[in-house]
Amino acid sequence: MRHDHLITSKQLSREDIETVLDRAAEIAAEPEAVAGTYEGTLLGLLFYEPSTRTKMSFETAMKRLGGDVVDMGAVESSSVSKGETLADTVRVIEGYTDALVLRHPREGAATMASEFVDVPLINAGDGAGHHPTQTLLDLYTIRENAGLDDLTIGIMGDLKYGRTVHSLAYALTNFDTTQHFISPTSLQLPREVVYDLHQRGTSIKEHEDLAAVLETLDVLYVTRIQQERFPDKEEYRKVAGQYQIDVETLEAARDELTIMHPLPRVNEIAPEVDGTEYATYFEQAHNGIPVRMALLDLFLGETDE
Ligand code: NCD
Repeated sequence: MRHDHLITSKQLSREDIETVLDRAAEIAAEPEAVAGTYEGTLLGLLFYEPSTRTKMSFETAMKRLGGDVVDMGAVESSSVSKGETLADTVRVIEGYTDALVLRHPREGAATMASEFVDVPLINAGDGAGHHPTQTLLDLYTIRENAGLDDLTIGIMGDLKYGRTVHSLAYALTNFDTTQHFISPTSLQLPREVVYDLHQRGTSIKEHEDLAAVLETLDVLYVTRIQQERFPDKEEYRKVAGQYQIDVETLEAARDELTIMHPLPRVNEIAPEVDGTEYATYFEQAHNGIPVRMALLDLFLGETDE
């Protein structure tokens, strides 16, 4: 993989994706083979927005490889609260570390920050923009459970503000997939994303109702309504609570359906679904470790291809 930074999944070819997923599978099968190989390596964590899985799994991945992390901590306790710009902060922290992981509420922040640093910068979510490392662990999970070609996937929920959705939709255009997007009209995919997906020759359809497509799906990817991105909270209240699934909703599903969710969930998937064969979201979150170990290895390794 020859990239200086990882900013969006648009930059990833099928070959790039397969390189990461294959390496992740090797690491998952034999984690002891890489344990300790990055002793002395430091990863800088800059999270300007809340995170549990992404931040902790990057930290776990770096430590499992033998390295360590330095963490800016909460924005309120850092110099950001004194008015320091993102460009200045990343220029300082790159001098302390071998790579940076950045999450920021502003779309485009990772692209901008990457222009100021020479160490690899990995986008861990930029506003409603992109979240490419989530996509890589999503693709890993899809490949393990349903296969990536000849795939029919339904992506449901907040398609407008959901960055995991945007990143996944672009990445899937590298494979032979049909993508169904299910949301209220007000939370449809941004039109430029729809345009790009068409341009990339992928088959996409938009729906307001899951029942219209559920029985055809191999994978159902459910997402949270991104409350924090709504300019008008009244608009949020109108759509909150729509598109919830429970055991009854799933009566029409194929037995092989794989249900995914990037988490955190609020109430999109009833807890009663957790015990069914469909539920794959906790496995999906766990896959974040081998996938992020593989990514760090590819970005930090001396022999990265
Ligand atoms: C997602 C995110 O932060 O975009 N979470 C994650 O990284 N697993 C999804 C979300 O917050 O809804």
